[in-house]
Amino acid sequence: MIKITLLVARISALGFAASLMMACSDQASTQVANSTHATPNFDLQLDMQEYMNYVLEPVADVLWDSAGWVDDIRTGYEELYPETDEEWLFVKQKAAQLIEAGNSLALPGRAVDNDGWLTYANALSTAAALAYRSADTQNQEDFFQAGAQIYSVCTACHQTYNPEISRFASD
Ligand code: HEC
Repeated sequence: MIKITLLVARISALGFAASLMMACSDQASTQVANSTHATPNFDLQLDMQEYMNYVLEPVADVLWDSAGWVDDIRTGYEELYPETDEEWLFVKQKAAQLIEAGNSLALPGRAVDNDGWLTYANALSTAAALAYRSADTQNQEDFFQAGAQIYSVCTACHQTYNPEISRFASD
């Protein structure tokens, strides 16, 4: 078993190296060689808009949609909080993902600066951690507070780095 696994790993490593060699110009292969020695490589192919639209917002939306209540003139009063253990587990998973999404926001190469940006990215993880803990204990009040904190971190960072953004929470 081990042998087979190793062999497969070797073959795919060879294939990867070969395709790298074919694809690389001299200059690019120097960069690859350098980067393996210096800083770790992160896959930053998602630009900031993609990251926001496809990573951060979908996760945050689930949490916001699970916190609080709506009072609709047609459908009446409705609690949005998770009700079953499974539903709480689901939002707990989303909160965990949001903690990590805060970390990815702080990655070198994605972080816009080493100052305020990192403070906001970090604050996002901290607020998400509150959501995580309150989902664990199924504490509605804390969970609601966490949702509000998350929202204010999003807004604060946008105000600092891109004041034109206002649509994100409305759709
Ligand atoms: C550390 C700073 C920071 C935090 C925290 C942050 N954002 Fe952003 N966000 C930005 C920046 C900068 C842009 C502008 C990106 C661009 O247009 O290049 C942006 C843009 C967006 C956009 C618009 C993308 C588009 O298509 O133009 C959405 C939606 C968004 N953010 C959602 C969120 C949500 C939801 C949160 C919180 C859960 C959040 N953001 C937290 C910095 C942040």
